[in-house]
Amino acid sequence: MRIFQHVTDIGDLSVALAEAQEVKRDRYQWQHLGRNKTALLIFFNNSLRTRLSTQKAAMNLGMNVIVLDVNQGAWKLETERGVIMDGDKSEHLLEAIPVMASYCDVIGVRSFARFESRADDYEEKILRQFIEYSGRPVFFMESATVHPLQAFADLITIAENRPTPNPSRKGGEWLHAANERSEALPLTGERGEGLIKVVMTWAPHPKALPQAVPNSFAEWMLAAAKQLSPQRGERGEGPAIDFVITHPEGYELDPQFVKGARVEYDQMKAFEGADFVYAKNWSCPGVTRPEDYGKVLHDYHTMMDWCVSKRQMAVTNDAAFLHCLPVRRNMIVTDDVIESPRSLVIPEAANREISAQVVLKRILENL
Ligand code: CP
Repeated sequence: MRIFQHVTDIGDLSVALAEAQEVKRDRYQWQHLGRNKTALLIFFNNSLRTRLSTQKAAMNLGMNVIVLDVNQGAWKLETERGVIMDGDKSEHLLEAIPVMASYCDVIGVRSFARFESRADDYEEKILRQFIEYSGRPVFFMESATVHPLQAFADLITIAENRPTPNPSRKGGEWLHAANERSEALPLTGERGEGLIKVVMTWAPHPKALPQAVPNSFAEWMLAAAKQLSPQRGERGEGPAIDFVITHPEGYELDPQFVKGARVEYDQMKAFEGADFVYAKNWSCPGVTRPEDYGKVLHDYHTMMDWCVSKRQMAVTNDAAFLHCLPVRRNMIVTDDVIESPRSLVIPEAANREISAQVVLKRILENL
């Protein structure tokens, strides 16, 4: 692997999930791979989880790690060609990238959507330049449109916690896989009742947030539905992951990420029977009205009934709650839901170390 951006870059998801569990069993067994290799982690934006988990994953693999916060201590970077650089930006990305690349073997970059131009964001203008001018493998640590390390960690968490019928009880009692054993189980299969419903819900937020997290979560869930959920055959019930997206009208995500997903505008209806609820805010993706790209379409005070609370969770199949964090409590989710035993936000964040390690391991194996 030289680029980690899309779900297709990781290949077969069942292999990737198995590798994640192998990493969990002994995360220090590949230290030879990273010996005398350096990971450079470049942040144009803030981070807690990505910064720490990726650094830890690289150290688990025996790598040296350099972390650069571009906006704190480095020269301010110009990203456009042709600009007369008489402002506050002292260095151009076109010099900075090859210079930074000369000090490392692998580059991770975080650069969020800027909301100045939909085309620039959706063409990944910044990350493309790192790929083109660094000559190094580049992995996305949340770009303008994707957050694949998060989506991979989310998938690991779902696989580890997917509900399964309790073999000791007849009549529909469900166990959660993580309570049975510490391994991720197949998302469907032998037990026949393996249909799981995963609902991604928009939730209110006071600021305009990018679409990277929901884009990637949708992309990875749809790929998982195809790859990990063989058609259940004769009766033709279809895939064993039922992936549903719910959001107010106007927040439709870009078809390149959500093609084939079911969209239900009625949040309560979407939540019915859900096994996993994945909450996230995103601003307008500008799909139906490009002029609204990056906007918050409604005053959030009028949208508070979208905040995930006991009311919505009551109609689920005792759903687990997921959020990538950081989360604004009582905007996105109420205190009682995020603090409930069904909240997986902490193991989900812990799995960021695992997803990053699988990706870095794959890159090191191909250097
Ligand atoms: N979920 C996530 O990427 O967290 P950080 O923004 O803190 O890295």
